[in-house]
Amino acid sequence: MLAVVPPPVTVRVPAKVNLHLAVDDLREDGYHELVTVFQALSLTDEVTVAVTEEPGLEVYGEGEGSVPTGPENLAWRAVEALAAHVGRAEEPKVRVVLRKGIPVAGGMAGGSADAAATLVGLASLWNLEITRDELAGIAAGLGSDVPFALYGGTALGTGRGEHLVPVLSRHTFHWVLAFDSEGLSTPKVFKELDRLRAAGNPPRIGSHTPVVEALASGDPRQLALLLGNDLQAAAVSLRPELRRTLRAGVNAGALAGTVSGSGPTCAFLCEDAQSAVEVAAELSGAGVCRTVRVAHGPVPGARVVGGDDAP
Ligand code: C5P
Repeated sequence: MLAVVPPPVTVRVPAKVNLHLAVDDLREDGYHELVTVFQALSLTDEVTVAVTEEPGLEVYGEGEGSVPTGPENLAWRAVEALAAHVGRAEEPKVRVVLRKGIPVAGGMAGGSADAAATLVGLASLWNLEITRDELAGIAAGLGSDVPFALYGGTALGTGRGEHLVPVLSRHTFHWVLAFDSEGLSTPKVFKELDRLRAAGNPPRIGSHTPVVEALASGDPRQLALLLGNDLQAAAVSLRPELRRTLRAGVNAGALAGTVSGSGPTCAFLCEDAQSAVEVAAELSGAGVCRTVRVAHGPVPGARVVGGDDAP
């Protein structure tokens, strides 16, 4: 009798921006303790998983030439981690196709998003009885930002960023994203912050409480005054042109701009949807970045496209 092959599963997964990213000192395990407020944006990747006799990974879209397709790809590591978790010892007979809209090495957790989407996709493909919280445990082992990509929305992250508590966010916020022509390595940006701190005392952003209050109020003007990222000084130190990009976004009419995570993508908060379209048009003519996108947030985390049966 022929085995029934399940149909491929496609998952859409959001990018993140850090509205607040307070980096504390280096821990013994090589990570920094941090307090962050994440927001998931409508800039997404789509990940398709399928049963196959030829396991492997393909990448299309943003940065397709620079994404590894071997076992080091975080999405493939997600396949292996979930297979191990459910006791599928043999090599997983899975094909993973990444269609990328999120910039690679851009500070928007694109690789983490792909890993989260792969977990959700496989849970559906393999018909696993597994909760999203159980998937989040596996996600945290893959990378600091992977659990957030599973849940999406707006959340307070602590530890390495993997311990999450949802944050109430009223209304929708409108963003313009400026992609740079080259990525930045996250470990290098954290190291640069350590170097800057050893050499002097760059100012640290304060508490996250006002940001949480601004999110609850839903007022983008209030939130704009509070965007903060301790990694911004390090990203700008490695890529001084970002100063010009940040200025150009505000000159184009954004309420405020920030480097997203470890950069180099710059995220600009705008008054409303119309203003975001205008800022994007003006910024793309300013010649300070490779490409510009409009997005809104918060949006949900990794979800099966056209289905609601995912964990
Ligand atoms: O967890 P993830 O693999 O995404 O982290 C990539 C790198 O970023 C780490 O190896 C570490 O150098 C740096 N990092 C850090 N502190 C964090 C998160 C990441 O130093 N909280």
